[in-house]
Amino acid sequence: MRHLIDIKDLSIEEIDELIKVAKDIIAHPERYREKCKYKKLATLFFEPSTRTRLSFEAAMMELGGNVIGFSESSSSSAAKGESVADTTRVVGCYSDIIAMRHPKEGAPLVASLKSTVPIINAGDGGHNHPTQTLTDLLTISCEKGRLDNLTIGLCGDLKFGRTVHSLITAMVRYPNIKFVLISPDELKVPEYIKKEILEKNKIAYIETTDIEKYIGELDILYMTRVQKERFFNEEDYLRLKDYYILNKEKLREAKKDLCVMHPLPRVNEISTEIDSDPRACYFKQAGYGKYIRMALILKLLEID
Ligand code: CP
Repeated sequence: MRHLIDIKDLSIEEIDELIKVAKDIIAHPERYREKCKYKKLATLFFEPSTRTRLSFEAAMMELGGNVIGFSESSSSSAAKGESVADTTRVVGCYSDIIAMRHPKEGAPLVASLKSTVPIINAGDGGHNHPTQTLTDLLTISCEKGRLDNLTIGLCGDLKFGRTVHSLITAMVRYPNIKFVLISPDELKVPEYIKKEILEKNKIAYIETTDIEKYIGELDILYMTRVQKERFFNEEDYLRLKDYYILNKEKLREAKKDLCVMHPLPRVNEISTEIDSDPRACYFKQAGYGKYIRMALILKLLEID
């Protein structure tokens, strides 16, 4: 039985295969409509979500399966003190696969150690978000036509941004990837990512606070939200929340084929005036999330 806790749980060949299947689903959805007939996905969301939970649920429905679950811990027996491991053991009696989001880093890993069905990490604290990364890789593959030879700007909260950590971990496995890490000093990429992932893999990267200086070099600009829920004091959040606001003025120096991505939700970091720019890919990106999750469900349930 396979789980997906960290993007590193998948080899590069498996990721490429998932992307291939997702593209086939986009092209031929009718071939997949009954693949998960009589199967059930449980979505256990101990933390809020719109895209991840609903795209998982839509994915299972489009595969002909059913969905059970909860969208907040207060409506589950976690509110009575039940452990994540016990919740998982029990939900495994009612479902074939579980997607779990939890505010505590490592909770889906703990769940997977006791689970009788595959567990998918749908985001654990400020740690990892592997299915967002699969979504991002499908988006890059579809929009840029390649996953190599790219200069990727990551901008905003690079400290707590779990999507950023997972994306860096995935992209360093492709040839000739460069990163421009754009953040306020307080929200820089954690040292362990720099040392253990970027430097160990000899990946070229620049750290800067200045988006305008580097925007013209980027093939992809991955914007992120400053995450209020991860701050210990409101004063710091208020000081940093509007540090970067991508607008038409800032995009003036960008390449014509730049791909602007964002895992969403956004707050102020991308002005709505960008939404109609052909380089804005973030809503398409959210759409790709359903197809890659369909491919992932098929893989973990070992359905052809
Ligand atoms: N990108 C993402 O994880 O969005 P949600 O928090 O809405 O699931």
